[in-house]
Amino acid sequence: MNSFHIHPQVFFGDDALDRLQELGGRRVFVVADPFVVKSGLISQVTDRLSRCGAEHTVYSDVVPDPPIESVARGVAALGAFGGDTVVAIGGGSAIDSAKLVREFRRRLDPSAPGMRLVAIPTTSGTGSEVTNVAVVADTQAQVKIPLVAEDLTPDEAILSVELVKSVPPALTADTGMDVFTHALEACVSRHESDFSAAFSARAIELVGAYLLRSYLDAGDLEARRKMHSASCLAGQAFTSASLGLNHGMAHALGARFHIPHGRANAMLLAHVIEYNSGIGADGRACPACALTAERYTDAARRLGLQSLNAVTAVRSLVHWVGFMLQEMRMPQSVSQAGVCSESEYRAAIPAMTEAAMADRCTAGNPKDASAEDVRAIYEKLW
Ligand SMILES: NC(=O)c1ccc[n+]([C@@H]2O[C@H](COP(=O)([O-])OP(=O)(O)OC[C@H]3O[C@@H](n4cnc5c(N)ncnc54)[C@H](O)[C@@H]3O)[C@@H](O)[C@H]2O)c1
Ligand SMILES: [Fe+2]
Repeated sequence: MNSFHIHPQVFFGDDALDRLQELGGRRVFVVADPFVVKSGLISQVTDRLSRCGAEHTVYSDVVPDPPIESVARGVAALGAFGGDTVVAIGGGSAIDSAKLVREFRRRLDPSAPGMRLVAIPTTSGTGSEVTNVAVVADTQAQVKIPLVAEDLTPDEAILSVELVKSVPPALTADTGMDVFTHALEACVSRHESDFSAAFSARAIELVGAYLLRSYLDAGDLEARRKMHSASCLAGQAFTSASLGLNHGMAHALGARFHIPHGRANAMLLAHVIEYNSGIGADGRACPACALTAERYTDAARRLGLQSLNAVTAVRSLVHWVGFMLQEMRMPQSVSQAGVCSESEYRAAIPAMTEAAMADRCTAGNPKDASAEDVRAIYEKLW
C-alpha cells in the first residue's frame, strides 16, 4: 500500500514571516545558523517573537553537516530552556540540527508536553523545511547518515525571499544543484508516483528557468523567489518518492572530503544519469532502463531541451548538467574540486563504496547498483 500526504503547512509571500506572531508559543527555542545571527537576519525572527510577547532564546551552536556531538549539545540546551516551540532558521544544517534536537529531547522525556517545530530556510537547497529527513555526520567514521522518520517533519514551514538575498553565488550554485538532484532523483525513483511526479516536474521546470538567473544576478528577486519555491517542491517530491544512488554516493564523498552537499551531488549527477539510463559514451540504452530513460526524457523536455528520442534526450540532459556546472564555475570532478591528492582519493574509494551501498538513499535508486558499479563511478569521478 502506498500513501501520499502533504505536510507541513507552508507559509509564503512577502509577509510570510508574520506567521511567527500568530504561533501562540510562549517559550520559543530558536535554532539559528551562525551566519543568521552575525548578519542580523535573526532580528526578523526575534523582533516578531518579542512583539507578541513570546519568551525566547537563540541557540546558534550549529555546525555545517551537523555532527552527533553538536546535536547532543543542542539537546542539553533545549532541556535547560524548556519551551513549547522550536523555530529553526538557517540552511539545511540548522534545520536538520533543530529536527534532531527536538526529536532526541522528546525521546529523553516522553512525558514532556509536545513542542512544535517551525522551519525557516535561508538557502534554496535542501527542502529540509518540509522533509522527514535529517542528516547527521559521524565525524569519527567519516560518514553522513540520513535519518528518516515522520516525527522529524516540521509542523510548519515559512518561505521568505528576504532571507536568501544574502546567499553568495557559489552557495547559490551548490544549493541550486541540490534542488535539481532532489527533483531528478525523485522523478526516476523506484517509489515515484503521480503525486510525487507533480512536485518534481514543477521543481525541474523552475530550476531550468531560474537557477542560472539567481546565480548571475543575486538581486533578481523573481529568480530567488522561484528557486525558493523549487527547493520546497523538490523536498515534497523526495520526501514522498525518496532519493537514489546520487545522494547515497554524495553523502559518502562529502563526509570523507568535506565537499559541500550540493557540490558533491552536482559532480556525480552526469555519471549517475548515464549509469541509470544505460546511455553513456559507451552505451545506447538497455531494455531494463527504458522506463528510467523515459523519465529522464521528460525531465529534459521540462528544462526546454529538444530531442529526437530517449538517447538524444538523455545525452542533452547530461550536457545540460555539464553546461550548468561550467557556467556556475563548479568542479566537474574530484581533481577539479582540489580537496585531496589522487592517491588519497583512490585509497578512500573502498570505504566510500561501502558507505554509499549502506546509505538509505541508495535503496530508492531505479537500478540496483552493485558495489562494483559504485566503485566504477567513484573511479571515473577523479
Ligand atoms: N533534511 C533534508 O531533507 C536534507 C536534504 C538535503 C541535504 N540535507 C543536509 O543539509 C546540509 C546542507 O544544507 P545547505 O546546503 O542548506 O547548507 P548549510 O546549512 O550547511 O549552510 C552552508 C553555509 O551557508 C551559510 N548560509 C546559510 N544561509 C545563508 C544566507 N542566507 N546567506 C549567506 N550564507 C548563508 C551557512 O552559514 C553555512 O556556512 C547537509 O548536511 C545536507 O546533508 C538535508
Ligand atoms: Fe540533497
